[in-house]
Amino acid sequence: MIVSMPHDALLGAVVTEFDHSTATEADIAELKELVYQHKIVRLRGQELSTGAFVELGKRLGTPASYYEPMYHHPENDLVFVSSNLPENGKQIGVPKTGKFWHSDYQFMAEPFGFTLIYPQVVPQKNRGTYFIDLGKAFEALPQDLKDAAASARAVHSPRRFFKIRPSDVYRPIGELMAEIEAKTPAVTHNAVTKHPHTGEAVLYISEGFTVGLTDAEGKDLDPGLLDALLTATGQRDTTFEHPNIHLQRFDAGDLLIWDNRSLVHRALHTNTPEPAVSHRVTVYDEYPFDASVEN
Ligand SMILES: [Fe+2]
Repeated sequence: MIVSMPHDALLGAVVTEFDHSTATEADIAELKELVYQHKIVRLRGQELSTGAFVELGKRLGTPASYYEPMYHHPENDLVFVSSNLPENGKQIGVPKTGKFWHSDYQFMAEPFGFTLIYPQVVPQKNRGTYFIDLGKAFEALPQDLKDAAASARAVHSPRRFFKIRPSDVYRPIGELMAEIEAKTPAVTHNAVTKHPHTGEAVLYISEGFTVGLTDAEGKDLDPGLLDALLTATGQRDTTFEHPNIHLQRFDAGDLLIWDNRSLVHRALHTNTPEPAVSHRVTVYDEYPFDASVEN
């Protein structure tokens, strides 16, 4: 494998000449280290079947199947499909996923370590994914916001972005909302987590999934604090020009691997209706999610 660092980007390493089927354990360890240190790795020149993509995930850790089956690839439930391109008139996966700042499975008790995205049909215009490094963003906060966040707990829920399933048509909205709360009740994590590999402090909040902050005893904090933190980190910037925001480009044959513990991301969907299909595999590594939590 050959590693290079783009000089004009906030984040990320580029890896060429990597083949997971022939990679040694040392190669895999090096790749994981690149993800931990540089947060995003762009693997170039990949030509993988759906099964081979999952095998790559298995070399990095333990892939997990998404909790909502409508996102599953029909041949492999470890692959999550984002697609606006029906096949033979049939919708595969879900269109327009993730168009809000979030980190994957943030609303679950144990979020994933790595996210792997393998674009299958790449839009010609405006392709890419936005990222914010919440380790660096935390470090750059004014001291009063840092102190307030460091003692807070963050409450996360998928409720505002849960996608209506085809089978939900004609169901009462209240019944559906009660089902969401029963299946994915809000979870709390420390607002500032400790990365278990790098030790970095990360402001683990997102505009999409974080619904409030509490103190250590669970008492609600002033919503102004969450708002100030989201604004300071760039998650309220609708122009996407905030200095914390990195637009990760990709081309056909690229596969992105990122550190899901320390980044929030947001899909860039084109305003023009261009076909786009992406496959995703999410992986638990060997560490707990947050090293600051006693187990
Ligand atoms: Fe996502």
